[in-house]
Amino acid sequence: MTNRHVIIIGASSGIGRKMAEQYLEKGYRVGITGRRMELLEEIKNQYPASVELACYDVRNGNNDQELEELVHRLGGLDTLVISAGTGEPSSDLEWRIDKETVDTNVTGFIQAANWAYRYFASKKEGRLAIISSVAANRGGLHAPVYNASKAFQSSYAYGLALKAGRISQDFSVTCIEPGFVATKMAKSDKLFWVVPVDKAARQIIQAIEKRRRKAYISHRWRLVAFVLRHIPHWLYKRVG
Ligand SMILES: NC(=O)c1ccc[n+]([C@@H]2O[C@H](COP(=O)([O-])OP(=O)(O)OC[C@H]3O[C@@H](n4cnc5c(N)ncnc54)[C@H](OP(=O)(O)O)[C@@H]3O)[C@@H](O)[C@H]2O)c1
Repeated sequence: MTNRHVIIIGASSGIGRKMAEQYLEKGYRVGITGRRMELLEEIKNQYPASVELACYDVRNGNNDQELEELVHRLGGLDTLVISAGTGEPSSDLEWRIDKETVDTNVTGFIQAANWAYRYFASKKEGRLAIISSVAANRGGLHAPVYNASKAFQSSYAYGLALKAGRISQDFSVTCIEPGFVATKMAKSDKLFWVVPVDKAARQIIQAIEKRRRKAYISHRWRLVAFVLRHIPHWLYKRVG
């Protein structure tokens, strides 16, 4: 079967897990990663013939070998999704939280993105998808490090999309900016337009299949992104 091999980095829970399940239902072979082995094994037990797993921490530094071995066991790679991320409130700028966020959403992220970029560039085809956030569009009061890390991811994705475009039209980089999605990460009493996780996963897969450069999840979160980028500072500082 061709074009049917996907790796999801950060598939043990939330959006990544739901995407893995939806890809499996479509008949893909799926490589899943995360730190919580028992959750990865749950998915493997549901689809034993179609799932390969790699249990590792994206903060380890160089995980190239983990990914290479996973592709080998999977039998190929056509799509790689980076969903691994962390996002705790850090109003008091707690070092533990801020360092973990940068180590995961920036350093660990670049390692995976660069590995995938080189893999697909060498084949002149593939789909790389990066799950950033609408939070990328403006600095935030409650977790400055989270918004900054997501701005980094969206900007990096754009850079990689430009580079991929020079290589081949069959090599796409899709930046996904979800609003609030109903996972354990979305914890606040001020949530609105919360997207069910199965709907989010479905829309993300569609955007990847259509090789979109950017997609908001759900679509109406595009409006929030627009407002975040354009609302004047005097107003944003009251409501942000
Ligand atoms: N939920 C939302 O409202 C929302 C909104 C916008 C953007 N996002 C983004 O969507 C992505 C997925 O989040 P989610 O809502 O699905 O949250 P989630 O359920 O907490 O999923 C996060 C995933 O990332 C993995 N992960 C986290 N740290 C890791 C590490 N150090 N090493 C390896 N894997 C790690 C987790 O696996 P282990 O814990 O097993 O390692 C888990 O599979 C994140 O990048 C998040 O920023 C979420």
